[in-house]
Parts: sequence; structure tokens; C-alpha cells
Amino acid sequence: APSPAAPPRRRRPQYIPNHIPDPSYVRIFDTTLRDGEQSPGATLTSKEKLDVARQLSKLGVDIIEAGFPAASKDDFEAVKTIAKQVGNAVDEDGYVPVICGLSRCNEKDIRTAWEAVKYAKRPRIHTFIATSEIHMQYKLRKSKEEVLEIARSMVKFARSLGCDDVEFSPEDAGRSDREFLYQILGEVIKAGATTLNIPDTVGITLPSEFGRLIADIKANTPGIENVIISTHCQNDLGLSTANTLAGAHAGARQLEVTVNGIGERAGNASLEEVVMAIKCRGEHVLGGLYTGINPKHITMASKMVEEYTGLQLQPHKAIVGANAFAHESGIHQDGMLKHKGTYEIISPEDIGLERSNDAGIVLGKLRSSYQNGLKLNFMRDAGRYLARLKSHFGLANYERVTDADLIALVSDEVFQP
Ligand code: KIV
Repeated sequence: APSPAAPPRRRRPQYIPNHIPDPSYVRIFDTTLRDGEQSPGATLTSKEKLDVARQLSKLGVDIIEAGFPAASKDDFEAVKTIAKQVGNAVDEDGYVPVICGLSRCNEKDIRTAWEAVKYAKRPRIHTFIATSEIHMQYKLRKSKEEVLEIARSMVKFARSLGCDDVEFSPEDAGRSDREFLYQILGEVIKAGATTLNIPDTVGITLPSEFGRLIADIKANTPGIENVIISTHCQNDLGLSTANTLAGAHAGARQLEVTVNGIGERAGNASLEEVVMAIKCRGEHVLGGLYTGINPKHITMASKMVEEYTGLQLQPHKAIVGANAFAHESGIHQDGMLKHKGTYEIISPEDIGLERSNDAGIVLGKLRSSYQNGLKLNFMRDAGRYLARLKSHFGLANYERVTDADLIALVSDEVFQP
């Protein structure tokens, strides 16, 4: 049964690039195929990218950033294929996702991005330029005035190609001068940007600071009421999910995430964490926010990305880690057998995961004396095997005996009672 904390899904409002008819609705922009693929060693084939894009559409992702078309011919072709196939297919809710391509702020990149995404029903160009002092001085070697002019003219150029959905990102916004941010964002709005994405590119802000940044941009940028504010939080201090939620609380209505939180360096805000936090707490703590994501497809998306990228999840990864619904200590197991809400705020079924046994119970050394109350025959019998297991393996050194180990062991005649 769905957990009581997670309310039923609501209908998503109609898609309009620069406006969301319901102010409580939060768009999910997935960049697994772009920023996620920038994780060292995570290169995907075109076929794998297409599979992931299809799964993202099934999940109910609003915007799929399919790649960086100017980066390589392969990326261009992959984005184009996704635009044609996923960008024209209606999902389970009758929605067609936006297909987005990234570009630097130059005509060649922007034109290439447009050539790749234009086949989608809802194409978007995402263009970016750095606005922090350190990036402008050392990386771009450009003055503020030059950066301002490039941003303004390139957003205008993107719109001139016939694209009515243009996202602009001031890279390293987390370390940029506030007054300069308000100025450049105001100029790109006038030039036709429909979404303003605020990246904490180096993951340096704390949640209170990032929330303040979004609130200040909302309060001080001319014309901001005519566009959508977005977050893009890197995870260098392990704060990307917290920062993303702080951004949503402060008024951002597009959140950029990746499946399993993969991405440059320490990764990005993870889709499953952000979505489930909004699902569990959106109503009570975040002023009624909700997303269009169907969490039942989270497990499949997570496993697909893990397998294709080869980036294995840590067992204790929130929501999708192997231990996310495993209960080791005897006290916890006792609680779980009496009422699952004692130690679970989400049911595995909510994210499309079947429990491996009735209560997610793991046989380990912490509760090696625990025998009472286990409902499953298999788990009850497991207690009787424990002494044998201990003497055979030396259980103190045997970190964890999984259900699969036990099934194999109890079916072995050595361990027959
Ligand atoms: O981290 C970053 O700043 C980015 C932008 C291109 C959005 O990935």
C-alpha cells in the first residue's frame, strides 16, 4: 500500500514555456544525459541514451536535457534522435516532454543545439555563460560588460531561430556579484529568455544562502514575474538536494536534477531525493508544492542509469540504495513487524520496488539473537540456522547474510536441521 506520507498524484498543468498556470507545480528538468554524462567514465551509447530518455518520459520528467549537441557528432545525433522519438511521444499522462540541448553563448553552439532539438514538439535551447569574477577573469578573459552583451545578444539569436523556449544560465551564480546577476538576468529576460536557471556550479552555498539567493533574484530582477526561476545545484558539499529544496521553497519552479545524483565531480541533486522529499513533505513544509513525477518508475530509472553508466550506488544511498528499506537492528525489526510506519517514511512499493521479504529484514550480527515475531517461515527458520551459520562461517566476520544467501544455504543439505 502507498505510504500515508505520500499523497496521490495530481494532474500536471498545461505546458507554457514562461508560465505555470498552477503556482504550486514544480517542473522537473532532468540532466542525466548531459551533466550526468559528464561524470568521469559515464559515457553512454546513443541507444542507451534513447532508452534512458524513454524511461525519463515514463517517469513524467517535464524537461529532458538530452545532451550538448555542439560537443560531438555523436551527441548531436543522440539529441536529434531523442527529439524525434521521445519528443513526439505522449507519455502515460498524455504529456509530451520538452527536449532541451545545451549550448555555450555563441552562434555556432546555439545553431547546432537548435538543429538537434527542433524536431521535438517542444524544443528548448539552454545557453549559458559564466558570471562570477573568477570565471570571467581567468576562464573567459572578458569584462562584465562584454559578458552582458554576449548573453543578451545570444538569447536574442536563439529566439530568432524560431525557438520560443530559451533557458539562460549565469554559470557560477552561487559566487557571482548580486547586482551583476540582477542586471544580466533582467537583460536576458528582455531578450526573450523564458527560464532563468541559477546554478551553484561549484556546490559552495549552504541551503539558507541558496534560498536567499533565489528570493533576492525574485525580488530584484526586473521582469522576473514573466519567467520561470530554476535551480541547478552541484553536490560538492553534499548539499545539492537541500539547496534545491531551499530554492523551491524560495520560489524556483523548475528544479534541475539527475537520476542517482550523477554529474560532474560529486554530482548533482538527485531526482529521486528531490521528488520524494517534495512528495512526502511538499504539502506540509513546502507550501503545497507537487511535481508530475510518477515515483513508481524511479527504481527502474535508477537501475538503468546504474547499469548503463557503470556508476554503482552506495548501499546507503537515500531512496534507491540497496539498504534504503533494509532493517538490521532487532529493535527496528520488532517495530517494523508491528507497524511499518515505525521506521519507514516511504514504502518501497511507492518507488516501484518489491520487498525482498515481508519487512525488509536483514540477518546480521546486530540481531543475531533475535528470533521472536518474524512472520515469514523462512525468516523464522533462519533463526534456527544461525548457530550453524556462525560456526560454519564465523558470523562475527560475516558482515551480512542476505535473503538470497539464506535461501541458498538452507537448501544446502549441510544446513538441513
Ligand atoms: O553547473 C553548471 O553551472 C552547469 C550549467 C551549464 C547549468 O551545468
